[in-house]
Amino acid sequence: MFRLFYVSTAAPDFTPGDIKPLVETASAKNRELGITGALKFNGINFAQVLEGEKDAVLRLMSTIRYDKRHTGVIVVAEAEADDRMFGHWDMSFVDGLDFQDFVNAMSSREKTHDQDA
Ligand SMILES: Cc1cc2nc3c(=O)[nH]c(=O)nc-3n(C[C@H](O)[C@H](O)[C@H](O)COP(=O)(O)O)c2cc1C
Repeated sequence: MFRLFYVSTAAPDFTPGDIKPLVETASAKNRELGITGALKFNGINFAQVLEGEKDAVLRLMSTIRYDKRHTGVIVVAEAEADDRMFGHWDMSFVDGLDFQDFVNAMSSREKTHDQDA
C-alpha cells in the first residue's frame, strides 16, 4: 500500500461545473485501478490523496500531473502505508480545503506505531 498527497492550482478556465465530470471519470478509473482517495477543491486549489498499489498510484499521478485542468502540481508527501484511510471511496469529493484529514492520513503510520509502543 502506498499513499500520496498533492496540491495544485486549477486552470483559470476551470469552473465549479467542471468538477462533476472530473470526479465521475476519476471514480470510475480509480475503481478499475484499485485506487481510493479524496479530492478537495476550494474554487482555486485542489488537494488530493491517492492510495493503492505503489505502481498504480505513481502511474496515475503521472497522468494527473500533466492534466491541463490544473497547474503547479506539488507532491506534499508520499509514503508506504499499512492501511487505506479512504477505503470506502473510489473518489470522495469535498467542497473546501481543510488539509487536516489529509495530514492525519499521511501521518497515520507513525501514529499506529506510537499506539503500538
Ligand atoms: C485535480 C485532478 C484530480 C484528478 N484525479 C483523478 C483521479 O483520482 N483518478 C483518475 O483516474 N483521474 C483523475 N484525474 C483525471 C486524469 O488527469 C485523467 O484525465 C483521467 O485519469 C483519464 O485519463 P486517460 O484518458 O489517460 O485514461 C484528475 C484530474 C485533475 C485535474
